Amino acid sequence: MRFQTVSILTAASLASALTPQGFTPGSQNQLFVQYGNQAALNGQVIPRDSTQVQPTLATTQRLQGTYAVIMVDLDIPTDTAGQTNTLLHWLQTGLTSSAQATAFNTTGGTTQSNGQVFLLQNRQNAAPLASYIGPNPPARNPLSHRYTFILVDHSSISTQGLNALTTAAQTRIGFNTQDILTQAGLASRVVAGNFYNVTNPGPAGADNGNGGVGGGVQGTPTDGNLQATGTNTFIQPDASGNVQAAGVVTVPRVGIASLCVGLVSALIWAF
Ligand SMILES: *[C@@H]1O[C@H](CO)[C@@H](O)[C@H](O)[C@H]1NC(C)=O
Ligand SMILES: *[C@@H]1O[C@H](CO)[C@@H](O)[C@H](O)[C@H]1NC(C)=O
Repeated sequence: MRFQTVSILTAASLASALTPQGFTPGSQNQLFVQYGNQAALNGQVIPRDSTQVQPTLATTQRLQGTYAVIMVDLDIPTDTAGQTNTLLHWLQTGLTSSAQATAFNTTGGTTQSNGQVFLLQNRQNAAPLASYIGPNPPARNPLSHRYTFILVDHSSISTQGLNALTTAAQTRIGFNTQDILTQAGLASRVVAGNFYNVTNPGPAGADNGNGGVGGGVQGTPTDGNLQATGTNTFIQPDASGNVQAAGVVTVPRVGIASLCVGLVSALIWAF
C-alpha cells in the first residue's frame, strides 16, 4: 500500500522541482507548509516573524506509513566570503497522515488540491531528533536564505539507520541531507519537498563573511563568562534543549565543561 501511494505521487510529478535547484535529494511533489494561516511554499519570501513556531505540514494524498520531516537552511554565511554552509532547523520523525482531508492554505502550491489536504501529525508524540528553530537570517550575505523541507518515509528504517539519523541530528551545522539519508538507508524514500525564503532587510554587515562585524567569542570558558560580541545572532539551547535566539550568552559556572561542549557545537553565527 505504501509503495502504491508513493508511485501515485511520483506519477503526479511536475516539471519543476519543489526543492531548490541543485538540492539533493530533491522532490517534485508538494509538501504543504503553513504557519498559522500563512502558506510558505515554492520559494516565496515569508516574513521572519511568521515562521517562529513550527509549521503544520500536509500532502495532497493520504500517505500510508510513517514519515520524517527535515528542514535545512541552505544559505548560512561563513567566514569565507562567497561560501555558505547548511544548518539543520528541524528533524521530526513519527509523522502519519490524518484520516480525513482538511482545509489548508495552499496558495502558491503548484499542486491542485482545492485546499483539501491530509495533515501530517505526530500522533505518538515522538520527540524531535532536532527541535524546531525558527528562521533568523542575520545581516550578512546572503541576506536571503532558502529553508528547504523534505518528507521522508521511514516506515522500514533499520535500527542502524535510526541510530545514524539520531546521531546526525545532533550536529546541526554542515548538515548534509543526501549523505545522512544515505547513511540512514532513506535516500530513495523522499516523497515530497518544499522551500521558502526568509530575507534579512539588511544592509549586510561590512564584513560580508570575513568575520569583522560579527565579532567572536570572548573570554575563556573557565571564567564562566563566554560572551559573543557584535551584531550577529546565534543560538543557544536552554536547559530543556529548546533553542533561543540571543544577543549574548552567559554561561553559568555550574557544569561549565559540559556546557561549553554543548555551546561550542551549538554556537552558530548565522542561521
Ligand atoms: C494564504 O497564504 C498567503 C501567502 O502565502 C496569504 O497571502 C493569504 O492571505 C493566506 N490565506 C488565508 C486564508 O489565510
Ligand atoms: C532565496 O534565497 C536564495 C539564496 O540566497 C537567493 O538566491 C534567491 O534569490 C532568493 N529568492 C527570493 C525570491 O528572494
